[in-house]
Amino acid sequence: MNSALPRYSRVLGTGSYLPPNRVTNTDLAQRLAADGIETSDEWIIERTGIRARHFAAPEVTSSDLALPAAKAALEAAGLQAGEIDLIIVATSTPDMVFPSTACLLQQKLGIAGCAAFDVQAVCSGFVYAMTVADSMIKSGAASKALVIGAEVFSRILDFKDRTTCVLFGDGAGAVVLGASDKPGILATELHADGRHVDILCVPGQVAGGAVTGHPFLKMDGQGVFKLAVGVLEKVARSVLEKAGKQDGDIDWLIPHQANIRIMQGTAKKLKLPMDKLIVTVDEHGNTSAASIPLALDAAVRSGKIKAGDTVMLEGVGGGFTWGAVLLDL
Ligand code: UT7
Repeated sequence: MNSALPRYSRVLGTGSYLPPNRVTNTDLAQRLAADGIETSDEWIIERTGIRARHFAAPEVTSSDLALPAAKAALEAAGLQAGEIDLIIVATSTPDMVFPSTACLLQQKLGIAGCAAFDVQAVCSGFVYAMTVADSMIKSGAASKALVIGAEVFSRILDFKDRTTCVLFGDGAGAVVLGASDKPGILATELHADGRHVDILCVPGQVAGGAVTGHPFLKMDGQGVFKLAVGVLEKVARSVLEKAGKQDGDIDWLIPHQANIRIMQGTAKKLKLPMDKLIVTVDEHGNTSAASIPLALDAAVRSGKIKAGDTVMLEGVGGGFTWGAVLLDL
């Protein structure tokens, strides 16, 4: 790095990990049928685009999923864990109330000393974490950051509620961001609107040695759908403008993988052909904060996304939160 030049952050490597238990819609429909709850492969595919999701074994935690994802990203970046000076984990399903999943991951990576903390912005968590890491790298507070989305959403699903339990899955995705003379991350933008806390929430807590409230995910699906479609177009356009770019400059769009209909709607509004849309929701379901880095890693490893491509990442979820990151890979 030349200290006279502006300082940016760049993606140096990506990685991801899915727990081995792949559960198809038909598998899930059979499980629900045992409790008298009706759903079908047809309904789930038609309304969401999801065909399968992965569920972690009961003893496996978010930091367990984050570890292989982090190691793969480090290997892709050609770095040792000891060279990392910042760890940010985006998760809404942390291993414990505290310490943070980032500290637990740091321990599992066998390193010590660097800053490590969690970001809680539900399905927007990864774009929040990338934005924070980018700011810390640009300011000189960090040089090499591990940015991770890791979730075990299966733990907070109510398998008696067919309107939500068919939608989510478990997994982790990771990115190594490093300081560079060349961008890298071109522009970012984050938003939240706490007036909508009730439309997507897990309104439970640990108190007095017991779980109080409702420890399962609750969602007003249509309310979330309507808000998501509006904000995703707006934030994408705003980030493009900040970077001095046009719709046509986007090589790849990686929206949060929640519902293929929302994703296709966003691509259409940005006038992007559907083959510029990275889709993994069919095989992963909605993995919340992990969905964007999982999709990014899949597209990089399959050779779809190449060095030099311009990629728009977009998150949206509980809070209500949303945001976007535009980057050159
Ligand atoms: O990660 C954060 C972001 N989250 C999202 O982006 C989720 C946004 N929302 C959505 O993706 C969609 O609203 C859902 C996929 C959740 C639901 O799709 P929808 O087209 O909005 O369906 P709906 O809620 O209007 O339900 C239609 C029907 C209902 O039956 P009636 O009232 O028409 O008789 C539901 O009871 O489908 C029924 N239904 C189901 N049927 C079979 C709901 N869930 C199921 C199910 N299997 N799993």
